[in-house]
Amino acid sequence: MIHSDNLRHSRLALHHGTGTIPALGFGTLIPDRVATKNATKAALETGFRALDTAERYGTEAEVGEAMREVFQMGKIKREEVFVITKLWNTNHRPGRVKPAFEASLKKLQLDYIDLYLIHTPFAFQPGDLPDPRDADGRVIYDTGVKLAETWGAMEMLVTEGKCKAIGLSDVGVDKVKEIFSIATIKPAVVHVESHPYLPEWELLDYCRQNGIVLQAFAALGHNSEPNLLADPIITTLAQREGKTPAQVALAWSLQRGTALLTTSKTPSRIRENFDVTAIPEDAIREISEGITTRIRLNGVVETGVPGFIPRGK
Ligand SMILES: NC(=O)c1ccc[n+]([C@@H]2O[C@H](COP(=O)([O-])OP(=O)(O)OC[C@H]3O[C@@H](n4cnc5c(N)ncnc54)[C@H](OP(=O)(O)O)[C@@H]3O)[C@@H](O)[C@H]2O)c1
Repeated sequence: MIHSDNLRHSRLALHHGTGTIPALGFGTLIPDRVATKNATKAALETGFRALDTAERYGTEAEVGEAMREVFQMGKIKREEVFVITKLWNTNHRPGRVKPAFEASLKKLQLDYIDLYLIHTPFAFQPGDLPDPRDADGRVIYDTGVKLAETWGAMEMLVTEGKCKAIGLSDVGVDKVKEIFSIATIKPAVVHVESHPYLPEWELLDYCRQNGIVLQAFAALGHNSEPNLLADPIITTLAQREGKTPAQVALAWSLQRGTALLTTSKTPSRIRENFDVTAIPEDAIREISEGITTRIRLNGVVETGVPGFIPRGK
C-alpha cells in the first residue's frame, strides 16, 4: 500500500523487471491525432512520468513526436519517462513479435521501451488488417499460435535489451497464472480495466502475492454510464475532503496499491488528475466496501476486439 502526501510521485517496484514504474500514468487513447500530441505534451509538462500507448491505438507516432519535442526543450530526459506500448493481436506469431516491436520503437522515436505488453490474449489472423473479419463480419482468430509461444518471443526482446519489462493486458487471473507458471521472465505488469465499479480484488491479490504490478486502466470509469464520478459515495467524500470526484477515485486506486492510467485531452483536467493527494483510510474503506455497483465498461477482455461498450447517458 502507498501512503504518501507525495502520492502523485509514487513508484512501484518491478519485481520481474528493472527499477520502478510511476504509479500515476497517462493514457493516450485519444481519437484525434493533434489532440493526442497536445495532451501528451501537456501531461509531461504537468508532471506525468508514465505514458501508455499501443500499436492498435495508432497514436505511437504522435506520442513519439510529443516526447521528442519535450525532450528537446531539455527539462525532461528520456530516462525519466516510463514508456509503455503493446503488441497487437495480429502479431502473436513469434516471428512477427520483433518486427512489430521494432515498428513501435521507430514510431515512438526511441531506442528502448520500458514495458511491452501483449495487448490481449486473443490471436487474430496475421496480416496488415488490424481487425480481420470473415464475410459474415466475424473476427478471424488465429488458432495456430499459443499465448505461451508469443510470450517466449516477448522474453527474447528483454534478453536482447531493447525492452526492460514485459506484461499482459486484458486478461483474467487464470491467464495470468498460466503464463506465470511457464514464463522464464515473469510478467512484470498486468494491465486491466479497474475502478471502484470493477475492483478486480482476486486479480490484485494474486498480483500482490507474486510480485506483479496491477495497472488499472479507465481509472475514472471512462466517462461512461453508470458515471463513477457522480456516484454518491465518491461525490460525498470529494466534498468532505475538499477534492474533486476524479481526485478521490484516483487516490483510491493508488492507495490500494495499483498503478493506474487516466486520460484527458483537457489541460485543466490533466492538471487536476496529477494533483492527487492521499485520502484517509476510512474513505478508502468506504469506497471499497460501500460501493457495490459492478460493471465492466470495455468488452475487449471477452473477444479481443477493443472498445468501450456504448451505453445511453
Ligand atoms: N489495454 C486496453 O485494452 C485498454 C483499453 C482502454 C484504455 N486503455 C488505456 O488506459 C488509458 C485510460 O483509459 P480511459 O481513457 O478509459 O481513462 P479514464 O481516465 O477513466 O477516462 C477518460 C475520460 O474521462 C474524462 N476525464 C478525464 N479526467 C477527468 C476529470 N478530472 N473529470 C471528469 N472527467 C474526466 C476524459 O474526458 P476529456 O478527455 O474530454 O477531458 C475522458 O472522456 C487509455 O488512454 C489507454 O492508454 C487500455
